[in-house]
Amino acid sequence: MQRIYFDNAATTALAPEVLDAMMPYLTEKFGNPSSIYSYGRESKMAIETARKTVARILNCTPGEIFFTSGGTESSNTAINASINDLGCKHIITSPIEHHATLHTVETIAKKGLARLSFVKLTDLGHIDMEDLEALLANSPEKTLVTLMHANNEVGNILDIHSVGELCKKYNAIFHSDTVQTVGHYPFDLKNTYVHFINGAGHKFHGPKGVGILYVNENIRINPLINGGSQERNMRAGTENLYGIVGFAKALELATERFENDSNYINELKSYMHDRLNEIFENITCNGDTTGRSLYTVLNVSFSKTEKSDMLLFNLDMAGICVSGGSACSSGASSVSHVIKAIHNGKSEKMVPIRFSFSRHNTKEEVDQVVEKLKSLI
Ligand SMILES: Cc1ncc(COP(=O)(O)O)c(C=O)c1O
Repeated sequence: MQRIYFDNAATTALAPEVLDAMMPYLTEKFGNPSSIYSYGRESKMAIETARKTVARILNCTPGEIFFTSGGTESSNTAINASINDLGCKHIITSPIEHHATLHTVETIAKKGLARLSFVKLTDLGHIDMEDLEALLANSPEKTLVTLMHANNEVGNILDIHSVGELCKKYNAIFHSDTVQTVGHYPFDLKNTYVHFINGAGHKFHGPKGVGILYVNENIRINPLINGGSQERNMRAGTENLYGIVGFAKALELATERFENDSNYINELKSYMHDRLNEIFENITCNGDTTGRSLYTVLNVSFSKTEKSDMLLFNLDMAGICVSGGSACSSGASSVSHVIKAIHNGKSEKMVPIRFSFSRHNTKEEVDQVVEKLKSLI
């Protein structure tokens, strides 16, 4: 059975060029980057070259880039450092953040280390900017604003510059979870008011288990992991050498291909959106699908019936990989916190499906998935 992979917001296939760049560091070039002989220095050089590449592409300085194990670790580090090192006593976030953010801020609030405010959402699931400003204006304490650049479930994109300007006005620390946008959109960090962003290699055809944390040069934080002096004393432990090399190569490739790939994938998304709307009467698009939205993500709810309840399972049986917009824990499936927050009260009657695309997908695959959906519903 031919598999159709429409779950690229979860993870992507490693690009062959990235594997080629990593291979020497998985085989003959295995020296420890901390060793002082030339064999180790060669590895160290590969890491520093990767850092420069990433910094050039994101338009920041290499000293602002730290390699981590991925998006989750980077968000945890940024948020905890804002409380522990930067004096934040109030956190403003949204109900639709990734759990890497939500569970971290909830833990901090539970420990009584900061108070927590959730910004209101608009009908389309965007951040209500007036409410954000009101929350900031009524915050006498030093505040951390943590809002994701793009939502991984519904694709909504934050106006990061406007939020940055508000944070500047109210002297707040700003962390943005950019896991769904690094490697998918151009960045210009020198001209963006933000203190922390993150990235994960596996979301743009790089390897899993490697990511970045950007820390603006104007702030100083303490290491979260203590030990050796790796990552300029910020993150101890022998580096993920081949992962770091792969991360930089994947970001380089994504940047070169941005124009072509984003146009191509955007067309696939629009095509699928139009086909679904032609065929199904009772579907709801989740989020600002045709507006400020990722070109990679299309999230659609089908109305809940006996047939649609089994949709994910049946798509899987047909070799179609999609995500449910639902959280499965201990075998029980429930509608995700994102869909619940956007469709206040109506979400239990919906079966949301997230289709997320990459350059490897085709219109023929869209046609096949649409046909399958037709036969299943
Ligand atoms: C928006 C967002 N933030 C954070 C993460 C976590 O990234 P990682 O799994 O690389 O730690 C993900 C990936 O699922 C994501 O989509």
